[in-house]
Amino acid sequence: MDKMTARRLQPDAAGIDAATGILAGGGLVAFPTETVYGLGADARNGQAVARVYQDKGRPSFNPLIVHVPNLKAAQGYGIFDETAQQLAGTFWPGALTLVVPLAQGHGLSPLVTAGLDTVALRVPAHPLAQALLHAFGGPLAAPSANPSGRISPTTADHVLSGLSERIEAVLDGGACAVGLESTIVGGSPLALLRPGGVATEEIEALTGPLAIAGDTISAPGQMASHYAPRAALRLNASQARPGEVLLGFGPMECTLNLSPAADLVEAAANLFDHLHRLDAMGRPIAVTQVPDTGLGRAINDRLTRAAAPR
Ligand code: TXA
Ligand code: MG
Repeated sequence: MDKMTARRLQPDAAGIDAATGILAGGGLVAFPTETVYGLGADARNGQAVARVYQDKGRPSFNPLIVHVPNLKAAQGYGIFDETAQQLAGTFWPGALTLVVPLAQGHGLSPLVTAGLDTVALRVPAHPLAQALLHAFGGPLAAPSANPSGRISPTTADHVLSGLSERIEAVLDGGACAVGLESTIVGGSPLALLRPGGVATEEIEALTGPLAIAGDTISAPGQMASHYAPRAALRLNASQARPGEVLLGFGPMECTLNLSPAADLVEAAANLFDHLHRLDAMGRPIAVTQVPDTGLGRAINDRLTRAAAPR
């Protein structure tokens, strides 16, 4: 992508207006929450979400947190049982993220959840995050606004020092009050998936003891079989063998193509949807080679896991 320099948007009506315009056009805007700055993208737009992974330089598709203005909006994307509703009622808006089953007709890009059937939802308390979410009127996927492996940003300057050449804008709301990412809970039995801004004891006062997430849920991105389609997957195929369906990349004949134009952002945006659709055909899946650079690394990481023996 062309080099750019992120705009610093002021925390006023004009700044919010500019931010919503960029987001609606599929661009990326970093914004303050009470925990850390988030790198925001329209969670319904696969290409925008793919750019989040690309610009952070994430080597794999770890699922992202979806930010919404309130519980009512959250219920459009996730299913809240009684405990989840109670937690939301107590800690939202605030530094708690709830992982819940995806709701019917959620409309989120499958890249946000990395193909899982659950979604991480959070209602931030920061007034500027609230103003942005209300003005935008849609869900924002937002990981911490730092390049992968670097320290989480708690000021707009931190964001700019890491991502200035990769994102459209940062909404400058000063320093974040909490300075530590949100606490994440989810699963059944309810487990602590990540300690963070809300103390575990405060949550347990409501729910009773939380399970400690084993490696089964704590790091879905690390698991080989979690993401796997039912069908067998054969990598680095040059063409389909009899009976196989072929997932292509670049100009070629195939059953479904990740990106006929060989664009890795487009390929990432299509990845989970195409895998689901091919899996539904009930035949073995052959996958053509995808370049192992930039977002291609995350795509290949996912494909390798999907092909791993179970
Ligand atoms: O405070 C925060 O939570 C910040 C601000 C910007 O809101 N966001 C943040 O996002 O820390 P991120 O993407 O850096 O962390 C997301 C975490 C990952 O560790 C991921 O594995 C987990 O949430 N996660 C997301 N969806 C999940 C799911 N469906 N199941 C289990 N874990 C999930
Ligand atoms: Mg982070």
